[in-house]
Amino acid sequence: MDEADVIILTSPVYVMHATGSMKAFLDHYGYRFLVHRPEEKMFKKQAVCISTAAGAGMKSTIKDMADSTFFWGISKTYKLGLAVMETRWEMVKPSIKSKIDKKTTSIAKNISKKVGTIKPNIKTKAFFSIMSFMQKKGFNPVDVEYWKAKDWTNGKRPWK
Ligand SMILES: Cc1cc2nc3c(=O)[nH]c(=O)nc-3n(C[C@H](O)[C@H](O)[C@H](O)COP(=O)(O)O)c2cc1C
Repeated sequence: MDEADVIILTSPVYVMHATGSMKAFLDHYGYRFLVHRPEEKMFKKQAVCISTAAGAGMKSTIKDMADSTFFWGISKTYKLGLAVMETRWEMVKPSIKSKIDKKTTSIAKNISKKVGTIKPNIKTKAFFSIMSFMQKKGFNPVDVEYWKAKDWTNGKRPWK
């Protein structure tokens, strides 16, 4: 993940949310949230969150994943939710497959245009500033030490 330009997270909808395995994966990266120990490489990446369902729940499933990409420090997350009205890919209607192809192609084009030019947006910058203020005092010694070592509590920023 650290070497990738783009991080793609996908999950089918299970009971209106991301699957348990996706959630377990995301849980392992909680320590990298802006509030803890963000990895500086994340601020230059783009992400895609994709969810398919038989019928409903794509929005909440995508949010399950996009919350993590945001809190990892990724400012640009593309979201794609599709109801496929089927349980097996072979059974999905050609018209739905063609729609998926168009949407993914369009996202891929946008991503390639932006590779190497990504800068954090105002929301990420604002969160980071609040966190840098919080980490000056801090409540988790491991996080406080990390922010201090990076010099982020003194105005330095990982995207500069
Ligand atoms: C445990 C479980 C829960 C599901 N919950 C939903 C749901 O809340 N909404 C929905 O539209 N489809 C739901 N589905 C259907 C799946 O989103 C759909 O069948 C998907 O293609 C399954 O992908 P998979 O074969 O990779 O598991 C559920 C399927 C399973 C197995």
